[in-house]
Amino acid sequence: MPDQELLSTEPATGAVLWRHPIGDADTEVAIARASWAAWAARPLAVRIEALRRFANVVRQRADAFTDLLARETGKPLWEARTEVETVIAKVDISVTSYSERTGQRRIEAPMNTRLALRHKPHGVLAVLGPYNFPAHLPNGHIVPALLAGNAVVFKPSEKTPASGAFLVDCFHAAGIPEGCIRLLIGGPDQGKALASHPDIDGLLFTGSANTGIALNRQFAARPEKILALEMGGNNPIVVWNTPDLYSAAVLVVQSAFTTAGQRCTAARRLIVDEKLFEPLMAELNKLIGRLIIGEPHADPQPFMGPVIDNNTADMLTESFLTLSTMGGRPLRHMERLIENRPFLTPGMVDMTEAREKVDVELFGPILQVFRKASFEEAIAEANDTRYGLSASLVSQDPRLYDQFWANIRAGIVNWNKPTNGASSAAPFGGVGWSGNHRPSAYYAADYCAYPVVSSESEQARAAMGVGLRDA
Ligand code: NAD
Ligand code: SIN
Repeated sequence: MPDQELLSTEPATGAVLWRHPIGDADTEVAIARASWAAWAARPLAVRIEALRRFANVVRQRADAFTDLLARETGKPLWEARTEVETVIAKVDISVTSYSERTGQRRIEAPMNTRLALRHKPHGVLAVLGPYNFPAHLPNGHIVPALLAGNAVVFKPSEKTPASGAFLVDCFHAAGIPEGCIRLLIGGPDQGKALASHPDIDGLLFTGSANTGIALNRQFAARPEKILALEMGGNNPIVVWNTPDLYSAAVLVVQSAFTTAGQRCTAARRLIVDEKLFEPLMAELNKLIGRLIIGEPHADPQPFMGPVIDNNTADMLTESFLTLSTMGGRPLRHMERLIENRPFLTPGMVDMTEAREKVDVELFGPILQVFRKASFEEAIAEANDTRYGLSASLVSQDPRLYDQFWANIRAGIVNWNKPTNGASSAAPFGGVGWSGNHRPSAYYAADYCAYPVVSSESEQARAAMGVGLRDA
């Protein structure tokens, strides 16, 4: 039934992992619409309790969830385990964030008036997820949305549907009404049907800039619906005035190649003081040569696994060659380790003398390198992108960091830390093509509810002091 069923295959082996009928957006939205008001009417304490039970269900099923995430994405077990831990931690973070960002407040007002700020849920929110963190990232929208009293229709990526289904099953097993969190299985067609559905009140999206821009265009005519976009990056890491080049190399490798480069916050461009270029490359080459690349359950555990599928691996290999044809000088060739499987080795290209540059997100283990003579040129190169998600400086000089922080345009600006590994307990989002100013993670509460301000008094006692003739 190829037209009716979605198949999920393991990137590392090509084996079929899971299959499921394609879903129907109309059906799922109708169920969610019928369910959200009762959920919204429950006291907040009841919704918190239900979400804490969800965290417990995930805790109980952690080993099975870890195994599934590793198989379906190809990421190593150690990394899949951290994803499961992040899913669990999201509940407490969201409870705190809900009360700090969207809780109730009384505002100072003149005598006899109570000015109250409270928040209401939007209604039915659609969530579209990416494949690189198929549990953690959609969960970062779903938990705050449910907490605020919304119902959710979640469409996981067509490349990782089993992980999405597992996540939804954990909500149901925790007693969260089945109508309030719906699973829609499918690909871009089902995503389009969901996004354009008249009965959703908003869309919370994590994925590529291309899709996000298409959604933004579509929502331009629907100002009444909330749209939160978390998109990609073309993130720089700058190495300047640092004595410890081994540590610099570790930070570059962690930034560029963790999760086989499939992180929105991965470093795509290394910008380095030309005087440090040779010794840093020597350290990088030594370190990359030692990286274990293998299937998720391998022992010893690999640093990174395959990219998500063969098509993606082919596209990345082609992109690497394109960089060379644009005048890039390969510093380390990206190789396919096993024929017909998407295991790639990290590739690096020196683009300093290239005739042209491309400002696109190459979502895999490719690092472009730029040598610069001054720190000002390095900052200009770092900012030469339409994106603005994350940026890091590796340097021992605090004044350089001050200059970097003040001049870099990105939502995450780090110092002597990788570009990735962002904390869920902090706001997460970028500028430019990386987002639409509705940051997620700790700030997700903001787009899951709208503020209602009420001027209130127990009695209808009123008087007019001016503008009246004598009675
Ligand atoms: P994608 O844009 O291809 O797909 C994301 C989701 O949108 C999927 O569920 C997909 O089925 C759906 N979709 C695709 N086209 C659609 C359309 N026209 N209308 C409606 N839905 C559509 O992204 P991906 O390849 O799955 O994920 C990788 C991308 O996600 C990278 O660009 C990465 O940078 C980005 N990402 C961003 C963040 C962030 O928080 N900023 C985090 C992780 C990943
Ligand atoms: C991601 O969301 O793709 C990565 C988050 C991070 O590692 O910073």
